Order: sequence, then structure tokens, then C-alpha cells
Amino acid sequence: MHSVIFSNIENSAFGSAIAGSEWMFPAIETIHVFAIVTVIGTIAIMDLRLLGLASRGRTVQAVERDTVPLTWIGFALAVITGILLFVSKATSYMANPYFLWKMGLMLLAGVNMALFHRVLSKDIAQWDAPGATAPAAAKIAGLLSLALWIVIPFCGRAIGFTLGVYY
Ligand code: HEM
Repeated sequence: MHSVIFSNIENSAFGSAIAGSEWMFPAIETIHVFAIVTVIGTIAIMDLRLLGLASRGRTVQAVERDTVPLTWIGFALAVITGILLFVSKATSYMANPYFLWKMGLMLLAGVNMALFHRVLSKDIAQWDAPGATAPAAAKIAGLLSLALWIVIPFCGRAIGFTLGVYY
């Protein structure tokens, strides 16, 4: 059943237009790369501040104010371009473990980020100051986030290299 859905997506006018074009897929993937660089770059700045390894002269909240809006803009663009890439070869991607891992790890990264913003930073006003060290739980969230956002692009890169292997 589910492969019928994905082959219908792939054979849609949209999917076959992108797959059949010489320039559309590379153009969309180029924008995808810009979007993911923005996401990972801004998240890394925030995580390195949480770990006390960068921007120590600034408060975590100030770094957050500057980075989080860019993270969301980049993520929205990564999702839009990612879906466009996906529809062009949907059945191949759904058979590719690196694609499935990437989606799962992104979900985990989202949960980790939500936990930090909703739970761990509830008492941020009490500990946040220029030069201040974040509590252990916030550091762990920062470290886990950094690790996930290193493995996610690895999986993204591995997709293209292994399409012929798993399909
Ligand atoms: C911010 C989150 C994301 C990151 C960090 C990310 C990372 C990457 C990377 C590093 C590549 C390889 C680019 C290249 O080699 O030129 C890639 C390709 C790709 N991504 Fe993403 N991606 C993200 C979101 C998404 C989403 C939401 C989807 C789908 C719904 C998606 C679907 C794809 C597809 C289909 C490819 C093409 C693989 C290929 O055939 O080469 N990505 N991604």
C-alpha cells in the first residue's frame, strides 16, 4: 500500500517534471544546502554558547534572540526544498536507510530543542549572564544537539551516494 502512495507521488506531474529536468534537481538541492547551512550554523552558535565554548561575553538569551529566527527560516526552506527533492524519487528515498535515519534524527533533534526551550530554560533568568556557565542539563542538551546536527547532514550526504545500493 505505502509504496503505491510513494510511486504515485513520484509519477505525479510535479515529481516527473523535477526528475526529468536537467537543472531543477541540482538547483533545488543547491537551495537545500544553503538552507541546511543556515540551520546547522545558527544551531551550532547557540550550542557552543550553552557549552561555554563561544560567545561567552554574551548572555544565552541574547544569542538565542539572534539565532533562533534564522534557524526557523532556514528550517522552513530546508523542508520546502527537501520535499521537492523527495517527490522526484520518493520510492528510492523511502527504501534508503540514510533518508529514514535522517528523518528520525531530525525528529529527535526537534524534541531535544523543544525540551530545552520549554523545560530546561524555564529558570534561565536565574543563571544567564555574560560569562555565566549554563547548568549541566542545558549543556547536555547543547552537546546532544551538536552531535545530532553532525550526523543528520552525514545521512543527507550519504543518501545520494547510496540510492543505487538500496533500491
Ligand atoms: C534542516 C534539516 C535538513 C538537513 C540538515 C538536511 C541535510 C541534507 C544534506 C547534507 C543533503 C545532501 C546535499 C548534497 O549532497 O548536495 C541533503 C539532501 C537531501 N535532503 Fe535534506 N536535510 C534537511 C531537511 C530535509 C527534509 C525535511 C527533507 C524531506 C522531506 C530532506 C530531503 C532530502 C533529499 C531528498 C535529499 C537529496 C538526496 C540526494 O538524492 O542527493 N531534507 N539533505
